This record gives sequence, structure tokens and C-alpha cells, in this order.
Amino acid sequence: MKTWARASNEKLRYDAPVVSRYYLETFGCQMNVHDSDRMGEVLRAHGWTAVDSAEDAELVVFNTCSVREKAEQKLRSEVGKLAPLKAARPDLVIAVAGCVAQQEGEKLLKRVAHIDIVVGPDNILELPKLVQEQLAGAPPRARTEFDLVETSFLSASPEAGRTPASAMVTTMKGCDERCSFCIVPYTRGPERYRPAAEIVNEVAKWVSSGAQEVLLLGQTVDSYRDESLPPPESDNPDESQFPSLLRVIAESVPGLKRLRYTSPHPRHATASLARAHAEVGILAHHIHLPVQSGSNRVLKRMIRRYTREEFVIRARRLLAAQPDMTMSTDIIVGFPGETDEDFEATLSLIREVGFTALFGFKYSPRPYTPALHLVDDVPESVKAQRLARLFETIELQGAAHLQGLIGRQEWVLFEGASKTDKNVGGLRRFQGRTLRNEIVHVQIPSEYDLTNVMALATIARANKHSLEGELEGDRMETLPRRMRTSRSLPLVRQT
Ligand code: 5AD
Repeated sequence: MKTWARASNEKLRYDAPVVSRYYLETFGCQMNVHDSDRMGEVLRAHGWTAVDSAEDAELVVFNTCSVREKAEQKLRSEVGKLAPLKAARPDLVIAVAGCVAQQEGEKLLKRVAHIDIVVGPDNILELPKLVQEQLAGAPPRARTEFDLVETSFLSASPEAGRTPASAMVTTMKGCDERCSFCIVPYTRGPERYRPAAEIVNEVAKWVSSGAQEVLLLGQTVDSYRDESLPPPESDNPDESQFPSLLRVIAESVPGLKRLRYTSPHPRHATASLARAHAEVGILAHHIHLPVQSGSNRVLKRMIRRYTREEFVIRARRLLAAQPDMTMSTDIIVGFPGETDEDFEATLSLIREVGFTALFGFKYSPRPYTPALHLVDDVPESVKAQRLARLFETIELQGAAHLQGLIGRQEWVLFEGASKTDKNVGGLRRFQGRTLRNEIVHVQIPSEYDLTNVMALATIARANKHSLEGELEGDRMETLPRRMRTSRSLPLVRQT
């Protein structure tokens, strides 16, 4: 099965087996999606081809998440499903990547049967070699070393004709915060920043290959620092060079139409960041700013390093940067010691700030986190009730916001066909996002393709979490045409 080849540098290198197909499944956040994209590129560069099912693959990779759910249990069940396949084809290589891999390392090999490779986020480049070692009969291996000395960021390799409308670009990795509930500092290590020039280059590469939007990624994306940029506005440790990075990207890559980032920590949401939102034209009119709780008592126990009052000032300042700016957030309910009164404070904060959307989670104790020393004393039933009330509150606000958009015209960047697209009756449904990040669906004749097209839509209806829009022919006629196929819709990109 295995083939060896001599590389030009005369070192022995491994080549992929004659048949080399991989199946990659991703769990968790956008950073994991991004890491999976890079993993796919690294594998393809070594001769591997992606397939849609484990049955068709010689290599299965699970890129795991451990931030909330019972991650190891979930992984065990996913790997367990492959047991019959592994019994029939012992050559099948099963690799575990991502945060569970980093968190448990070598221990995973002992605890979960059938795993051949454990590979951490900073060891992705080693994956092809690790797989080849397995195919050559090596014992199972774990590689989970942070690149603390020689930090590197895997560069994207956009493929012609497969560029997404919105591309993800990493700006930093790791986290120096010590929020008591969070496992990320353990699974992703300390903060390391990617040089600004490298970031700008990658953004430019995506734009020249057709992406219209870039989403900057980092665990605390707004703590960014780089010596080549102008210094932070003051010695205040909350100030960072993230606002400068945003400005530099916008100035250096004029073809970029939209710029987003996730996830910022409220500590760095300073006046200079709000100013960037007011002044940098391509920045989204939306920010996802995780607050976690509205109670000062709980925020302190979470080690969030801001008070409710400070958060409100920061949020209002950002919301004032653009007339139609919106904000979403993350909330944890049932953190150890959270009383009814604390939870009411969270609901009142949601109303006070006017978030239009949120992600809500029941607190779950995570290994290696400081909050493990606190008693997980909020009963499951109370956590569930609080989560339900949280969703009721946000759904009222979110629905009112979406209703208020009916009749308005919005520039929508279409990502591709909707998940609900059935391509029946000569009509297709496409999905895109407004500058504020609301999801918009439109229905158009099926001979047209809206993938990666920026178009002006009139909002006709509001669903619970998305909008229905219409593209009007007469308005399109007045716009410059953008030919996509021989029978393309006369749509344009935003200028
Ligand atoms: N329990 C519940 N939710 C958590 N999050 C992170 N850690 C935990 C935990 N132990 C949530 C936070 C964070 C989001 C990514 O996941 O709200 O912002």
C-alpha cells in the first residue's frame, strides 16, 4: 500500500498510498472550520482526495470541539460508529484533531479504541506524515505541541472556482484571558499574533481569487498586537492594535467589500475600536460581543474583568458608531452560584443593550478550568428554564428587529443555495447576508446562480430568524451587468 519517494532535497519523504481518500468531519466553532479547511489543503497537497463518507475513505479525521458538550463521549460515539468499518478494513486510519485532541493528547489513544492518530491544532502540517507512518504499520501516535517558539500560521491556498463569498483569515491564536468556565486557554495555548503583513497578504489572496468578504478569526480577536503597526492609543492595557489592523486591511486591499471579525473580548472594545467602526467603510454594521452574564456578582466569578456598567458603556459606544449597527452576544445560564436575581439581571441587560440575537448555553463544567472549584449547584431543570426564558426574551427582540426591516432595500452577499433549496418548479432558493449579518433568502429562476454575488434585495417578509427578500428586475436593469454564465442574472456587486 505504502509508496516511498525521494524528494528533491534528497530526504526520504512519504507519498500518499495509491488510493488515498479522506473523510473529514468538523465539530465546533469557526476556528475549527478554518483549521479543517487548512487540514484539507495539507492533505490534498500530499495527494489525498476528499470524499463524502467514511465508507469511501482510507483516512477519517474528526476535528473536535471541547468547549461545552461532553466532548469525549461524543467522540467515543463517533469513533464507535466506525468500529465495523475498522474491523473490515484494519488499514483504515482514524485521526482525531482539534481541541479534544489537544486537551487529552496521548491519553485519548488509550481511552478510546480504534484511534490511530491524535493531532493538535498546531501540528496540522504533520498530519500527512503521521498518516503514512500508520499505513506503514507504526504504533498509534499523538502530536500535540504548541508552537510557542516558532509560531506559524497556516496560509490558505484558495482554489480557482471554489472561492467562498466569505473567507476566514486567522489573525491570532490562543487566549491569555482566564475566564473561569473556559477550556480554550488550555486547548489553544497562550496568545500568539500573526504578523499584519501576513494577514494582509492572505486577505489580498482571497480577494484576488474572488472572495468579497473576509471574516477575521481569533479567540480574543481584538487583543491583537504587532510591532509594525502604529502603537496602541494609550498605555491602558485594554487598548490593542486591532483597530489599526482593521484600518490597514481596508487600506491595503481596496477590492475587499466587507470585513467582519469574531470573537472580540469586551475588555478591548475601546473607544478606538468604535471609531474604526465609524470610519472604516467596509466594516460590518454588526458585532458579536459575548457578555456571558448581566450580573456583576457572576461576571466576577467568571473572571470576565469588566462590570455590567462597563459593558453597557462599551456596547453603546459601538452601537452608536453606525446608525444601523446591531449587536449579538453569548450568554451562559446556570453558572455556579447564579441566583434568580442574577439571572433577572442578565435578562434586563439583554433588553438594555438591545441585542438582536444571541447564543445561549447551559453552564457545563469543563476539565482544567478554574470554575471546577466552584460547585455546579444550579439544578439542570433550573438551567433549562432559564435558557428557555433567555430564548423567549431574545426572540421577541430579534423578531421585532427583523419585522422592522420589511420594505427596506439591503445589499446582500449571497453565499450559495439555501439549505432548504429543493430546486423544484423551476425555482431555486439562495441564501445571503446583509451588512448587519441577517440571513436573507431569495427565490429565483433556477437557470441563474447567485453564488458569491452581491445584490440589492427588497425585504418582503420576516421569518423567526431570517428574512425573505426579492430581487427586482426593473431595478436590476438600471445597474451594470455582471455576467456569470451565458444566461446570468444582471446583478452587480456593491461599489
Ligand atoms: N459552559 C457553557 N458554555 C460555555 N461557553 C464556553 N465555555 C462554556 C462552559 N463551560 C460558551 C461561552 C462562549 C461560547 C463560545 O461558549 O458563552 O462565549
